[in-house]
Amino acid sequence: MIPKKINIANLPTPIQRVEFRGSKFLIKRDDYTGTELSGNKIRKLDYILADVKKRKADYLFTSGGDQSNHARATAIAALQIGVKVKLFLWGRNTNNPDGNLFFNKLVGAEIKYFSKSEYENISSIMVDESKRLQKKGKKVYILPSGGSTPLGLWGYINFMNELKEQKEYSKVKGILSAYGSGGTAAGLLLGAALLKSKVKIYAVNVFDDDHFARETITQLVEDSVADYNLKVDVNYNNLIILDGYSKEGYKNIEKSKLKVIIELYKTTGILLDPTYTGKAFYAYYHEFLKGRKSSSIMFLHTGGLYGVFSKRKNYLEV
Ligand SMILES: Cc1ncc(COP(=O)(O)O)c(C=O)c1O
Repeated sequence: MIPKKINIANLPTPIQRVEFRGSKFLIKRDDYTGTELSGNKIRKLDYILADVKKRKADYLFTSGGDQSNHARATAIAALQIGVKVKLFLWGRNTNNPDGNLFFNKLVGAEIKYFSKSEYENISSIMVDESKRLQKKGKKVYILPSGGSTPLGLWGYINFMNELKEQKEYSKVKGILSAYGSGGTAAGLLLGAALLKSKVKIYAVNVFDDDHFARETITQLVEDSVADYNLKVDVNYNNLIILDGYSKEGYKNIEKSKLKVIIELYKTTGILLDPTYTGKAFYAYYHEFLKGRKSSSIMFLHTGGLYGVFSKRKNYLEV
């Protein structure tokens, strides 16, 4: 059975025709899923928050970097169902917060900060903390980083159904997106398989190595197939990980990439973030656009715009 959602995303998102450095291509604007709630996370949260509501949780825990788009989206979206949010973030507290962290503080989310090494155990830290609250009679819902759960995958399974109804669908031979926690790529792959589509899914790993990224996506797809008893034949050859585009590290971005991002912005008005979409677009440009008149691979803009503010100096220096 298809799980229920609470309908917080502005759907369908438009598909924009773009020309950059002489190449024509399509962008699916998932940065338009909302304003405060912009980006890919909203599609997942649409389903996850319906489940949080059904389970009558008092607290919703989730984790991510201090500029996590998912954490910000969760903190804001949760207001609509009246659940308290506690964020477990990799980074430092500051009294002049920027970007996503600014919004987290503004909505009054409870925040705990961790160093990079402490953050490696974040799942067990959240479980321990939830046990303390459970002893006080509180119900806690733990949402893994990025909202990438078998339920969250429905956001991008549904994306494929949405795309099928859009007039550009027949021209799309592949979709390229940034990979962080895997739910977006996994949902796309499973959604395509359910439609018996041969569309290829290209994932640009900005966080994990390519081997781990492939395993994570595969596991998420298999868990979702099992949990929802889906009759589907998934062709894992349709998943391609484009590795090597985040060598500077998750929280950094090289000047050469920023140059491409700023040029795209100045020529089209489309702004990309430094952590995910910027790196994904750089990969997209090199793999599918450079020296070509057009591409049948669609670029998925997954949002993340507030992350730009934390790197405004780098953007202005280009
Ligand atoms: C803006 C943006 N794009 C892409 C991703 C990657 O999506 P996923 O975590 O589903 O792999 C994320 C989060 O991780 C994100 O915040």
